[in-house]
Amino acid sequence: MIIPKLKSALAFGGDYNPEQWPESVWQEDMRLMRDVGVNLLTLGVFSWSKLQLDENRFDFGWLDRVMDLLAANEIFVDLATATASPPPWLSHRYPDVLAVDANGAPFYPGSRQHYSPSSPTYRAMALELVCRLADRYKNHPALAAWHINNEYGNHVAECHSEASTKAFRLWLQRRYPSLNELNDAWATTFWSQRYSSWEEILTPRRTPTFANPAQSLDFKRFTSDSLLALFLAERTVLRTATPLIPVTTNFMGFFKPVDAQAWAREMDFVSWDSYPDPADCCSAALLNAATHDLTRSLKRDRPFLLMEQSVSSVTWKSVNVAKHPGLMRLWSWQALARGADGVMFFQWRASRAGAEKFLGGMLPHVPPERSRTFAEIKALGHELRSLSAISGTLVKSQIAIVFDWAAWWAIEADSKPAPIEYANWAQEIHSSLTALNLTADFVGPGENLDRYSLVIVPCLYLLTPSTAANLSRFVENGGHLLATFFSGIVNEHEQVELGGYPALLRRVLGLMVEEWFPISHDSSQALLFFGQNQVLSCKRWSESLQLEGAESIATYQHAPLFGRPAITVNAHGKGQAYYLSTQLEGDGLTSLLSQINRAAKVRGILSPTEGVETVLREGSGERFLFLLNHNETPVTLTAETLHGVDLVTNAAVHGSIVLPPLGAQVIRLRMLADPTQQTI
Ligand code: GLA
Repeated sequence: MIIPKLKSALAFGGDYNPEQWPESVWQEDMRLMRDVGVNLLTLGVFSWSKLQLDENRFDFGWLDRVMDLLAANEIFVDLATATASPPPWLSHRYPDVLAVDANGAPFYPGSRQHYSPSSPTYRAMALELVCRLADRYKNHPALAAWHINNEYGNHVAECHSEASTKAFRLWLQRRYPSLNELNDAWATTFWSQRYSSWEEILTPRRTPTFANPAQSLDFKRFTSDSLLALFLAERTVLRTATPLIPVTTNFMGFFKPVDAQAWAREMDFVSWDSYPDPADCCSAALLNAATHDLTRSLKRDRPFLLMEQSVSSVTWKSVNVAKHPGLMRLWSWQALARGADGVMFFQWRASRAGAEKFLGGMLPHVPPERSRTFAEIKALGHELRSLSAISGTLVKSQIAIVFDWAAWWAIEADSKPAPIEYANWAQEIHSSLTALNLTADFVGPGENLDRYSLVIVPCLYLLTPSTAANLSRFVENGGHLLATFFSGIVNEHEQVELGGYPALLRRVLGLMVEEWFPISHDSSQALLFFGQNQVLSCKRWSESLQLEGAESIATYQHAPLFGRPAITVNAHGKGQAYYLSTQLEGDGLTSLLSQINRAAKVRGILSPTEGVETVLREGSGERFLFLLNHNETPVTLTAETLHGVDLVTNAAVHGSIVLPPLGAQVIRLRMLADPTQQTI
């Protein structure tokens, strides 16, 4: 139970912005919320300017009335701390609260989220508001969770203000005991960058050409940490006032500026905002699957919350494609399948004005009784009530994908042999696993890997000795590892680990990478994969390998690497370490992963069917099999072990099931007498 006050109910609701409407509308809101089954609302995200009218004038009256009304209607509140968008009076009086870009230009009010995370004024004002909110509502019956700020780092990911520059220097002084150590770590002898006093150090601002890579990497670390410090400051106030009310903030999936793994440790439950593009449903569903898995993996011992999604379209693309009938339901179910204990939307009532008035809402501009989307919302709300048995159950994976924010920041910085899209590559690997009906956890580089049979390491360019030891230990103990190209190249300061790439993984992989041969963007090359006697296509990258015990299982078919090893396997300890020296495309990646899965004895839940996603949630002796049909046509699934009861209709399932187009079902699987037969 991530939100104890909801008991075992799945959360259903959205952002609620009643301050945008006359109070007479609120009564209608309550009636319609009850009608569709809303039980949780995120309240007041952008209400700072309505709560604090001036430095010394607060108005909580309207919020008191909304909270009371919601409590009377048995609707719980995920109460926002309202600190994401400072009111205009604040920056007018204290311009130091404004964030500044790398060219020195401030971000002005008039939009949202324009604050500098390092501004002491912003921090003091935000904390004062949070103290007042916590004190006022700590015993309110509607309060069920705290929603700190909103989408940290969104819009303004980095700040170069004077306050941020000073804070960066202090952060560096904590990281490096002396200026000499900083100079060494940043290799400032290169291009005459040596610092002789801390005051000379700036945030990486506009420079004539490539900035110092180690400085840029530290600035990314600092940025994530400085936003986290704000979160922690608010959390401390809230935890003191309400130790039993869980605290969260909404992540944005594969969002580079915020190291979600470090943040999640500080949160009671994780949540994220999902806005896949319905213009390309197939890729959107795959990206969504990967992002749910990423978010779920941040706290593997509990479910997460889908905090926001749109009912239909968004407003920030040039063409905002609407979700076709059924797609909102299917994507909501996808979140549940992958471990969410609730489905929330942006927002309850579509705004009448402002930059997002065409984004839609659970309650649209048109009369609800004549709206297709409102009918779908109502149906979903009712359906969720029959799914409460899944609450608290978990998705368990045999596969881990190592994902590391520091490696992401480093590999995508300037001046590499070729651009590598780190998160995209990790997602492509995840998508191939999804096509094989396998789920994967995304784990941090230092996490314990004992529970996994297969660990995949996409381009871990930045590798520390402790991570290398963790991976080696995993293989020595009998695990299967797949590492991909351009891994293990630099240390935490972006300095090359000498002795032949990938120095710290050479033993476990049984090879040395001698040279890189990037492939130009618009071409593909071929590999010959021996196991399947198959030609696979690859892109972006290739390498010349010198084998030191590893065996080649695929060779390049292009000059100058013709006949040279492209994919290898090395027996190490009780396990096996594979190395993929290029970026395989589509089916090729699936072929390789199938072969490795067989070796690692990783099995899918059902044998794969094109466009059908299957995921298992389990807990308290129960197993729930989600079946999601992303096709526009019906699909029949047949499997001996497909036995149980449809959780929504209570209909028995005996070995076969027909999924309608865009259909989603969940089967409470019958537990077999012989537990060894439980795996399908
Ligand atoms: C984000 C924000 C919301 C809203 C939605 C829709 O996720 O958190 O406030 O702006 O996008 O655009």
